[in-house]
Amino acid sequence: MSTQRGKLPRAKIGCDRRLTLKMSQTLNILITGGAGFIGSHLCDLLLAAGHRVIVLDDLSTGSLANVAQHQGNARFELITGSVLQESLVETLVQRCDRVFHLASAVGVKLIMDQPVKTIETIFCGTDVVLRCCARRGRRVLITSTSEVYGKGVSVPFKEDDDVLTGATGKHRWAYACAKALDEFLALAHYRETKLPVAIARLFNTVGPRQTGQYGMVVPRFVSAAVQNEPIEVHGDGEQTRSFAHVLDVAGALIDMLDTPECFGKVVNIGNDVEVTINQLAQAAIRVTGSSSKITHRAYDEVYGEGFEDMRRRVPSLERARQLLNYVPRRMLDEIISDVAAHIRRSN
Ligand SMILES: NC(=O)c1ccc[n+]([C@@H]2O[C@H](COP(=O)([O-])OP(=O)(O)OC[C@H]3O[C@@H](n4cnc5c(N)ncnc54)[C@H](O)[C@@H]3O)[C@@H](O)[C@H]2O)c1
Repeated sequence: MSTQRGKLPRAKIGCDRRLTLKMSQTLNILITGGAGFIGSHLCDLLLAAGHRVIVLDDLSTGSLANVAQHQGNARFELITGSVLQESLVETLVQRCDRVFHLASAVGVKLIMDQPVKTIETIFCGTDVVLRCCARRGRRVLITSTSEVYGKGVSVPFKEDDDVLTGATGKHRWAYACAKALDEFLALAHYRETKLPVAIARLFNTVGPRQTGQYGMVVPRFVSAAVQNEPIEVHGDGEQTRSFAHVLDVAGALIDMLDTPECFGKVVNIGNDVEVTINQLAQAAIRVTGSSSKITHRAYDEVYGEGFEDMRRRVPSLERARQLLNYVPRRMLDEIISDVAAHIRRSN
């Protein structure tokens, strides 16, 4: 249990969160999926703020290397196991004051390759975590995705917009629908069991430690650029995305669980600056000083026939601004440069 309860201090906009998070109380915090890309940065920030962190991760897409820097820290504990193990989750939730639930099957490629595992991990895992938190009355944040907006065309996407996904015969939409069901379940708990739950709908989040192995575009492009290899763009490259730096996102997640006004709400978190995938490829070449050439490959060839993608995906950050004073501070060139530095260090 916490030695003292209260709010985690809010980061000042425009300052580095690592420096501004000061410990005013020690909380025990569980991060499911904490050895993953976003979870490990969250772990860094919370430990730097003086909290105790337990990570529960099955290491399916996460890695020990992401949290190796905390080995030997008495305030850090890594449990290798699954969020599907209810008695384990129950024990860990009991030991903690707050829970960040990030464990999930992630990435379009993984979802196309392992559709059953995807749905089970996302929906059943969230069900377990929410039930355990409801029994103990713990604050919990779940991580949903901009994929929930489906084929919506009213850009920028607002949290209360209608959503439009594709046919159930197209596995690509299983990720979006499972995450949408997680949102329904979280909101149902908020109403029925009074669970203090916040829902972050994350847009493309990028930065050091993200792996390109599962089809993520930024690590794939930057890695190719660093090695002066061809950068393969899927489709015509004129589809747009907006990329947020993982440190901006992890900071917002901490603020959400610290802000009771976020409970029972969905909040978009991301960056609202829009770039085409062709521009992203050009930026990767420019920032890394690469001699890579850009090539294009049809979606069907990469993902199989009938693959559907969204042309634009831009968040409205109005709600995040109002509730959290959230403003993304790190832009594309800084993201590419941080990712390139990480890739060079790891090679
Ligand atoms: N990165 C993004 O752009 C993005 C966008 C939208 C939503 N999200 C969401 O954010 C969360 C974190 O994603 P990420 O990008 O860090 O991906 P990630 O794959 O790096 O992290 C997911 C972590 O969950 C772990 N995991 C998977 N199944 C598990 C299980 N059954 N039990 C315990 N651990 C398990 C993996 O090993 C991994 O460490 C996910 O919920 C994801 O859906 C991410």
